[in-house]
Amino acid sequence: MSIVLENVTFTYMPKTPFEKTALNDVSLSVESGEFTAIIGHTGSGKTTLLQHFNGLLMPDKNKGSVYVDGEKITKKNVRDVRMKVGYVFQYPEHQLFEETVFKDIAFGLKRLKLSDEEIKERVLAAAKTVDLDEALLERSVFELSGGEKRRVAICGVLVTNPSYLLLDEPASGLDPAGKREIMKLLKSLNDRGMTIVFISHSMDDVAENARRVVIVNDGGIGLDGTPYEVFKNRELLTSWGLDVPEVTKLFDDLRIKSGLDIPHVITISEGVKLVEKLKAEGRLKL
Ligand SMILES: Nc1ncnc2c1ncn2[C@@H]1O[C@H](COP(=O)(O)OP(=O)(O)OP(=O)(O)O)[C@@H](O)[C@H]1O
Ligand SMILES: [Mg+2]
Repeated sequence: MSIVLENVTFTYMPKTPFEKTALNDVSLSVESGEFTAIIGHTGSGKTTLLQHFNGLLMPDKNKGSVYVDGEKITKKNVRDVRMKVGYVFQYPEHQLFEETVFKDIAFGLKRLKLSDEEIKERVLAAAKTVDLDEALLERSVFELSGGEKRRVAICGVLVTNPSYLLLDEPASGLDPAGKREIMKLLKSLNDRGMTIVFISHSMDDVAENARRVVIVNDGGIGLDGTPYEVFKNRELLTSWGLDVPEVTKLFDDLRIKSGLDIPHVITISEGVKLVEKLKAEGRLKL
């Protein structure tokens, strides 16, 4: 099972003075079970790429195809594809508008013509998944915190039981606790078998959570590999206007200043282990 983009080119506002080719001959596949981050400079094409994964955008005519579990996305099947491949927009809570949290979560089920009982079951199950207190379901969305609103919006996508979940900057604009909760949620969904592809501007979140990183640069794929492989290329990333995790910089500095043979580090837990090892070996005195 996979989502495959084959030679996709996409142009916004073609044949106008504002024409912009946002993706240029991109081929990429995501296998089921992946936990993948998409990073890239502002305007590089990340959102345009992600929106091709479930047919929110379609390639230019005769300029590529997208396949979900072997089936090509067409105008005809795109609505079914979107049930299987859920998409959480950036700031998804801006699209909550029902009187209660329950109704907002249930909104995505309208098309499925389920009984009231089935709708209730699905909403309760999805609320439990995102760790949303049942007592909040009859409240107005406006009474919730930022992090809770975000989880309600994600719940409204999960309620259709998608196999793939795409998220455009799911942690942006939240406080540190809210960000941590969202990343924890994505991890737990992935542990339960859901394929996750998320866009992020936080290299720390990416290094700590993703198992694969795809860098989008100027409408193409710049790099594609494990976080470890990708974040090794600090100079290249800098030339693309991208950063590396804070802990990577810290250990790069330590390597240069101490002259010690310090390996490349991308997560805090690795950094802690390394410091303990260096101390135990007497190579680092703190
Ligand atoms: N609706 C649109 N109409 C015209 N051009 C657009 C539209 N949306 C995006 N673009 C242009 O296409 C390019 C890629 O945009 P995209 O939104 O995919 O980038 P991004 O990597 O998601 O950026 P950001 O980090 O700011 O979200 C940019 O040059 C952008 O200005
Ligand atoms: Mg974007």
